[in-house]
Amino acid sequence: MKNIILCGFMGCGKSTIGRKLSQRLEKEFVDMDRYIEAKEGLTVKEIFEKYGEKKFRELETQACRELSEKSDLIIAAGGGTLTFQRNIDILSSTGRIVYVDVKYEMLCERLKRDTRRPLLQVENRNEVIKELLEKRRPIYERAASIYIDGNFTSGKVANIILGILQ
Ligand code: S3P
Repeated sequence: MKNIILCGFMGCGKSTIGRKLSQRLEKEFVDMDRYIEAKEGLTVKEIFEKYGEKKFRELETQACRELSEKSDLIIAAGGGTLTFQRNIDILSSTGRIVYVDVKYEMLCERLKRDTRRPLLQVENRNEVIKELLEKRRPIYERAASIYIDGNFTSGKVANIILGILQ
């Protein structure tokens, strides 16, 4: 089996859904942010603070390259990963990209107490979410070959994905 790559906005549930899929399919799960953090010995937030977003994006592309050499993985991409064509090219050659689409209001609710995501540590968090979401939605849609309505529990979304994959 090739890899399954979950993409979508921050807070759409990629990691929780990915873990559920990995249990049910008995495949290894990789959260790309945690993969980068383990390699660098720094949190994503620290990487942004110390080296800036550009450096983080380079590390992200490096992670895409390394993970694409493996197979049988369930990968949760970061919310920004698939907004770079170079990453779409790498990841789409290694597996199927699944876009988990969650509505704006639910994302705001899920992200309202977040302290880990550098892009959201701003006063006008909901406005930033709105702007980024409008920009990114069409990009996720184009990058993915499978579209999923993610406005349900993670268990239900995982079941929907399993149904499509099987
Ligand atoms: C980002 C999303 C985050 C993380 C970083 C940047 C983005 O991943 O990669 O904070 O640009 O949307 P999650 O989507 O897993 O939160």
